[in-house]
Amino acid sequence: MVVAIDGPAGSGKSTVTNIIGEKLGFTKVDTGATYRCLALKAIRNNVEKEEDLIELSKNLDIEITEDKKVFLDGQEVTLDIRTNEVSNRASFISNIVDVRKNLVELQRKMSVGKDVILEGRDTTTVVFPNAEIKIYLDATLEERANRRFRQNKELNIEVPYEEVYKSMEARDYNDMHKEFGALTKTENQIYIDTTNMTLEEVVDEITNIIEGEK
Ligand code: DC
Repeated sequence: MVVAIDGPAGSGKSTVTNIIGEKLGFTKVDTGATYRCLALKAIRNNVEKEEDLIELSKNLDIEITEDKKVFLDGQEVTLDIRTNEVSNRASFISNIVDVRKNLVELQRKMSVGKDVILEGRDTTTVVFPNAEIKIYLDATLEERANRRFRQNKELNIEVPYEEVYKSMEARDYNDMHKEFGALTKTENQIYIDTTNMTLEEVVDEITNIIEGEK
């Protein structure tokens, strides 16, 4: 079974995917991590030109373990792919159409022959348009900025709320205006607005949807 979850930054995709993947024994595929790994490799190897980035995206060796550790070319990069520098580069790189095509192939290979739960921006539209379950997870920009602001505080990261809000707004725009693989709402997705929901409520709702489909 393929469960695909798309949504904007801060909508809770990662948290929800992790909990449900664990609970139901599904393999979790974090498609954003593939863009982040490519960005990290590009930074480490000083690769900047579009054609070189496309070439680099052809033979990436990425492994995501059940406990969410990420390995790139056999080396653990779980934390290295979460820096601001990598986030910014990943956002830029994810606009290149041929890079996306190569990474979509990779994401499909990572999912072959398994029960999977994928999360990203185009998993319901491009990666697995025929997934048994397709969900669009959403929340208002204010709520998502609030969540990220609180998360940062817990991690002792000092970024003013205004800045978190503005950068999330900019990421939304970029995610929704890509030439290929843009984050889009479609009639085939189940739309869940999590603005006024607790994490438990979201997890329960999606678990019920999956169990009803089994
Ligand atoms: O979800 P994330 O922040 O880890 O994603 C990293 C970057 O990759 C982000 O800029 C959005 C982009 N991305 C994408 O374009 N398509 C996906 N399916 C997943 C992520």
